[in-house]
Amino acid sequence: AIMQDRDNDETSMRAAMEWLPGVEWAKYGDQDLISTMEWYETKAVVRVLEENLTIRDHFDKIVALMKHGRHQRLELLLDWKQDIRFVAGIHSTKLGHPAGGIRRHPLDDSELDVIADILNLGRGMSFKNAAASIPNGGCKFGVHSSLPEEERDDGFYGFLAFCIDRNLAFTGPDMGFSLEDANRIRKFTKNIVGGTQKTGSGGATGVTAAWGVFVAMKQALADAGIEKLDGASVAVQGVGELGRPLVEHLVEAGARVLAADTSDAALEALPDVVTRGSAGSILRTQCDVLAPCAVGGILDGQAIDELRCKLIVGGANNQLASSSEMDEYLMAKRIADRGILFVPDWIVNAGGVIQGKMEHVKGPEFDLDEALSAAEGTIPQNVKHVLAIARREGITPTEAAYRKFNYTVYGSVD
Ligand code: PHE
Repeated sequence: AIMQDRDNDETSMRAAMEWLPGVEWAKYGDQDLISTMEWYETKAVVRVLEENLTIRDHFDKIVALMKHGRHQRLELLLDWKQDIRFVAGIHSTKLGHPAGGIRRHPLDDSELDVIADILNLGRGMSFKNAAASIPNGGCKFGVHSSLPEEERDDGFYGFLAFCIDRNLAFTGPDMGFSLEDANRIRKFTKNIVGGTQKTGSGGATGVTAAWGVFVAMKQALADAGIEKLDGASVAVQGVGELGRPLVEHLVEAGARVLAADTSDAALEALPDVVTRGSAGSILRTQCDVLAPCAVGGILDGQAIDELRCKLIVGGANNQLASSSEMDEYLMAKRIADRGILFVPDWIVNAGGVIQGKMEHVKGPEFDLDEALSAAEGTIPQNVKHVLAIARREGITPTEAAYRKFNYTVYGSVD
């Protein structure tokens, strides 16, 4: 773990052997795993890192990223036997135990890219939870492993359950994780939500996430003076667990929808009236609203210069290509200078974690309608307020949103 004390600007590290080499993760929950834990001091940690890990090559970069994004802790949990690197980006626990999704990263992503992605997403979760009045800090989990899909057994899922519990977090499937994966982890821990309903879980959190994006979009359109979705053109990038239900709401509201996805199967599952676009050019589509609902980091300098939409309101996390609040201000300004209204993603896409929190707290009493109304009660309200602050202060909605929630997340305004 690498820890950062934000108040004193100090960084420290520690490492531990938390389980015996012969541990059977398939029996997680029935075994005493951590009784043999041994801690190493910082000096010895350096030696362990140097002898065993690729992390030494980019250690300084990671510490710089952590400072830049004001992160509290980064943990790497390594199971050498199964070749699993579990990356936990714990941005903040000030509001409570951390909450955030779990992602799987392709093996050809470098370890540094995975860490940077997870850190960024964890930071987004701190703000998302604060904005949604969820009493949890923010985190994100990433799984990087060479273990082939068909060899992922209870040993694999049991280890992930341990890593989640290790951080006292609750999580839910994010990109690269299916509802079935959540079911399998859920055999070992109740700290994962978003499995299939037939197992007693609440179903895909994308359902409430999509509803939240939909009501946020209506609010933003009203604000921009485009009163109705009926007849408006909306380009949706990515039609997975979030994009697909969003498209359905849009079609029902009479919007003209253009959708793109790298998966043909995902496109085929859409209603017939939806126009299919190309994943390579959807960001440059002329439309009223662009809704990014896939990967993050898509709005870089060049993409911003080529945008031809009036508004950006979407469900993807970290749409701006940047790694700190300050970088985001610059990117957001660049969008605003093009006359485009960008509503920050963590304000718009909080529906997923709103549903997740309810499932985690209520268990079998979870009621999807309650989650949908909670999203509808919170998200448009936040959009409205953030856009009003932005107008009043002459700043971007991104800066307005951070200003509004910085005190909640960090306990200070700067
Ligand atoms: N993965 C969701 C997001 O990115 C949040 C979430 C967290 C959902 C925890 C379920 C459980 O917003």
